[in-house]
Amino acid sequence: MADIQKEIPKNGRTPSKREGKAAFFQSPKGMHDILPADWPMWEKIYKIAREIAEFYNFSRIETPILENVDLFIRGVGEVTDIVEKEMFVLKTKGGDKLALRPEITAPVVRSYLQRGLHRLPQPLKLYYIDPVFRHEKPQAGRYRQFNQLGFEIIGGESDPLYDAQSIIVMYRFLEDVKVKNLMVQINSIGCRVCRVTYRRRLIDYYKKQKVCRDCTRRLEKNPLRLLDCKNAMCATVKPNAPSILDSLCTVCKTHFKEVLEFLDEVNLPYSLNPYLVRGLDYYNRTVFEIFTEGNDLALASGGRYDYLAEMLGSRPTPATGVAAGLERIIEIVRNEPVYQNQRTKPKVFLIHVGEVTKKKSLSLIEEFRKENMPIFETLGKDSLSAQLERAAKIKSPIALIFGQKEAYEENIILRDMETGVQESVPLSKVVQEVKRRLR
Ligand code: HAM
Repeated sequence: MADIQKEIPKNGRTPSKREGKAAFFQSPKGMHDILPADWPMWEKIYKIAREIAEFYNFSRIETPILENVDLFIRGVGEVTDIVEKEMFVLKTKGGDKLALRPEITAPVVRSYLQRGLHRLPQPLKLYYIDPVFRHEKPQAGRYRQFNQLGFEIIGGESDPLYDAQSIIVMYRFLEDVKVKNLMVQINSIGCRVCRVTYRRRLIDYYKKQKVCRDCTRRLEKNPLRLLDCKNAMCATVKPNAPSILDSLCTVCKTHFKEVLEFLDEVNLPYSLNPYLVRGLDYYNRTVFEIFTEGNDLALASGGRYDYLAEMLGSRPTPATGVAAGLERIIEIVRNEPVYQNQRTKPKVFLIHVGEVTKKKSLSLIEEFRKENMPIFETLGKDSLSAQLERAAKIKSPIALIFGQKEAYEENIILRDMETGVQESVPLSKVVQEVKRRLR
């Protein structure tokens, strides 16, 4: 992730080739720092996410980064890439086996059940923006630590309206952060009843095909996974596989039809993809992924997961949701004009000269804080001219110059940075004077 992973040269210099990697520690493979230069963009995206969540009445939830590993084995599914290959698992001194969460839907449902959230008015609409961890092969758009924004609608009825709403809420978020040319791919993978028939048809078909070694094993345990395999040999036989849409029972067919009608109602474009199955086992009926043109990694994905609560040992609880990978989104929108030149409010610049003034400067900063007036300071050993230069660079309207003489006389010099005119002001009156001038 070249852009996000910019290195800060240590002591203002870049390590030489000879010093190489051994000179400094590197972040773990596939994990990145969000550096100061990138934070304004991240903040903006968080703000848009919060506004969207608030508009559609989602409340924030945060779950622990670590969860019992069985939560994911049972929830996400034993025969999935996430559980088989991608979890970071650790054993505590007490012998508990925990996993760094590879996704947040199962933890949210765990919390919903454990904390009695089903007693609140249903359905409960929850959202989160948090890091997740997957031990994948790092490459562009695929990291080992990344941030997900997720929306979950849990409880109430298995109403197709909520399937549509989880697509709409994410689509609007992506539009608002300026992702262009969005495409929604959607499918229904049916319910426990109709999936039995489909499984049989899939097995019959794939038994006659040549597939990769992983898929030969999956054919026994989880044949739907074959449709998700990225192996070239498996990809060539997929287009002729039976379509699940031909196997849906009447109830699932009607459910899916209604989801699509709701999307039509708000003019949200989508295309049917009968081979979309998703890589997690908790889904039933609607599944979907959202892409931007020219990019084959999904920016967001989700679906209905009515069986998840039951898989975790509780009673059936209808639910649907979606999550987006924020790093993938940022890489696409980082050059959009809205993320360039993000101006911060100009601040008064406090310049100090000498050690005596340093202490007094600290208490002066507190005076400004009480009045909620932002102030910029360096409090380092820079010369007066270097500090003035800095004040000009950050476009401070006023610089306060605090020298030894002023400190003894309980005064401070107030300099208008535009005209260069300076005057001495009593220290006790400086906050009010600055306030008056800025007004
Ligand atoms: P997921 O498809 O595994 O679904 O991940 C959701 C999104 O996370 C993806 O669409 C993608 O944008 C991003 N993502 C996945 N893996 C990576 C990676 N290695 N690096 C960067 N971004 C990645 C889930 O996690 C489900 N919990 C979604 C959901 C919520 N379903 C219902 N509610």
